[in-house]
Amino acid sequence: MRKLLFSFLATILISKASAQTDVNMGIIPAPVSITKTAGNFTLGNNVLILATPSGQAVASTLKQFLATKGVTAKLVSAKTPLTANQKAIVLRNDADQKLPNEGYQISIKANRIILDGRNAGLFYALQSFMQMFPASKTNAAYSIPNVEINDYPRFSYRGLHLDVGRHFFPLSFIKKYLDVMAAYKLNNFHWHLTEDQGWRLEIKKYPKLTEVGGSRNGTIIGNYPGSGGTDNEVYKGYYTQEEAKEIVAYAAARYINVIPEIELPGHSSAAIAAYPELSCFPDRDTYVAANAPWSGSRTGKQVQQTWGVFDDIFVPSENTFNFLQNVLDEVLAIFPSKYIHIGGDEAPKKYWKESAFCQQLIKEKGLKDEHELQSYFIQRIEKYLNGKGRSIIGWDEILEGGLAPNATVMSWRGEKGGIEAAQQNHDVLMTPSTNGLYFDHKQSIAEDEPLTIGRNGKGFAHYSKVYNYDPVPAVLTDEQKKYIKGVQANLWTEYIETPSKAEYMIFPRVYALAEIAWTPLEKKDFKNFSEERLPLHLAKLDQTATNFWVPVPFGQPDATVNGENYVVDLKVPVNGAKIYYTLDGYRPSENAAEYTAPIKINVPAGQKKVLKTIVITPSGKRSIVSQSIFNNGAADVK
Ligand code: ACM
Repeated sequence: MRKLLFSFLATILISKASAQTDVNMGIIPAPVSITKTAGNFTLGNNVLILATPSGQAVASTLKQFLATKGVTAKLVSAKTPLTANQKAIVLRNDADQKLPNEGYQISIKANRIILDGRNAGLFYALQSFMQMFPASKTNAAYSIPNVEINDYPRFSYRGLHLDVGRHFFPLSFIKKYLDVMAAYKLNNFHWHLTEDQGWRLEIKKYPKLTEVGGSRNGTIIGNYPGSGGTDNEVYKGYYTQEEAKEIVAYAAARYINVIPEIELPGHSSAAIAAYPELSCFPDRDTYVAANAPWSGSRTGKQVQQTWGVFDDIFVPSENTFNFLQNVLDEVLAIFPSKYIHIGGDEAPKKYWKESAFCQQLIKEKGLKDEHELQSYFIQRIEKYLNGKGRSIIGWDEILEGGLAPNATVMSWRGEKGGIEAAQQNHDVLMTPSTNGLYFDHKQSIAEDEPLTIGRNGKGFAHYSKVYNYDPVPAVLTDEQKKYIKGVQANLWTEYIETPSKAEYMIFPRVYALAEIAWTPLEKKDFKNFSEERLPLHLAKLDQTATNFWVPVPFGQPDATVNGENYVVDLKVPVNGAKIYYTLDGYRPSENAAEYTAPIKINVPAGQKKVLKTIVITPSGKRSIVSQSIFNNGAADVK
C-alpha cells in the first residue's frame, strides 16, 4: 500500500513538473545557462526602452515586436533616469567587455529587463527574448518569469548554404532565408552563385556570363539521369551587382556575413558556354554523347540542362587566370567577406589528361599529375585572393594534390576531409552529406515525399540525424579540435524549383542545425528539443506564409512491434495540430478518427493491426502518412 501511494504521488509530481514552462524557455538554440528566480515581470503598455546609439536598431525592432503583441513602448536615451518602480527594458552593448564574442545576457527581475550583448550579442539577446515572450496575456498584461540567461556560441561559424545555380531564387526569398538565419543565430550565408546550369551574378567586364551563362534551354524532367528528356523551356535568372549588394547589406544588418562561391575549376559549364576559350577544347561540343538528353541543337558549348558532374572544366591557361582574377575583382567589390569560396569539388581530370596544353604545363611546372595541377590552380587563386586580404574556402577535394597554404576546408564527403585538414593544422567547416547536413535529402522515406535527390531510400535525413551530429570528430587531438571552426548545412537545388519547396526542405532541420552550431554539447537534449520546443516553433511558423515538413506524431513506433496488447500514446509535433488515424488499412485524412486519447490496440493471435496516422496543422499543412505494424504472429509479417 505504501508503495502504491508513493508511486501515485510520484506520478502527480512528474506530471506537475512537465506542465511547467520548458527549461529552455522555448528558445532555439538552447542557451548555455538559464536560471529562473522567484517572481514575474508584468509587461503592460508604456514600458520604456533605453538604448545607446549603437543599440538603436535592436531597440526599434523590439518596439515593433511589442507593437505586434499589442504593447506600446517608448524609446528613450540610455541616460534616462529611472525610478525603482518604473518598468523599463534596458539595452546594453557590453560596455565593460566581459562577454565572449557574440555572447549575451538577459536579466529579468523587479521592474527591469536588461538585454546586454557583445557585438552581435545584443541582437541575439533580442532573438531569444522574442522567442521566450509569452503567447498570450494574463489579466491584460504579459507575465514574464524572472530569469537570468547567460549565452554564447559553441562555434564562431554557423552556416547555411543556398544553390541558386540549378534553380534561381528571387531576392525576396533570399531575404526571407536570411531572416530565418538571423532568428536562429546562424551567421554565415554561403551563396553558391555559379554552376554548370547557370551563372547567376552580373560581372560587368564579362556580360556574356549572365546573358549566355545565365540561361539554359531546358531542364531535365524527373530524377537524374531520367529517361532522357528535358522540358525544352528556357530557364534563366541572375542577380545584378546592385541586388547582390542589397543582399550583403540586408545580411549585415542581421549580423550575417555573405560568402560568395565562384566555382573553379569544375562546375563551370555555364562560364564556358559564354566564353568557350576557358575550356581545354573550345571547339568540342558540350553534348557529345549520342543519347544526350537534349532535343535542341547539339553543336557548340551549352549551359547544362541535366544534373551531375561534367568533364568540360576550366583550362589552367594564363587567359583563364586573367579572366578569373577580373571576375574576382568585381566579386570582392560586392562582398566584404574575409572568406571567398572557390569551389574545387567534382572537377574530373579527363579533359586535362587529354589536353596537350595541360600535359605540357604539368611537365613545365614539375607537377606529378592532374591532381597536382588542380592544386596549382587553387594555389594561384589563393595567392591572388590573399594578396587582396581575403582567404579561400574550398570543398574537401582541394586536399587532393596538396592543400593551398592558408585554405579553409569545407568537409562534405563525410568527415574525412575535415579530419585530414585539421591534422594538417588547417581550419575546417563541417558539412558532411553523410550526417544530415545536406538538406536536399528527403526527411522521410514515405511515398508522400516529393521528388528529391537520392533514390531507393538513399539520401534520407530526418532532423534527429542533424541533431545527433557532433561537428567535432572524436579522433582529433584537443589541439586539432580547435581547427573545427563550425558547421553548415547545404541546400542544393537540382530538385528544388520553388521557394515553397526550399522551405519544405529546410524546416525543421534548420532548427537542429542551429542547436548543434550554437549550444554546448552538454546542454543538448533531443527530447526537450523535439517534444517541447519544436512544436512551439512550428506552431508559430504555421501562422506565417511559410511551408515546412510536418513531423509525424511523437510516440508512434516506426518499426514493427510484436505482442498482443498495446497502448499508443501520441503527442502532436506542432502545437494546435490534430492527429487523425486509421486501423483499417485506409489512408487517414480529416475524415478519419481524430486522436484524442491513448489508443488501445488488441491483436488476436496470428494477426496484425496497422496504425496509420496523419498530422494536420491549424493552417492545413499535412504530414506524411506514417504507419506502425502491431504484430501477434501474423504469417505475412517477417
Ligand atoms: C558538393 O556537394 N559537390 C560540394
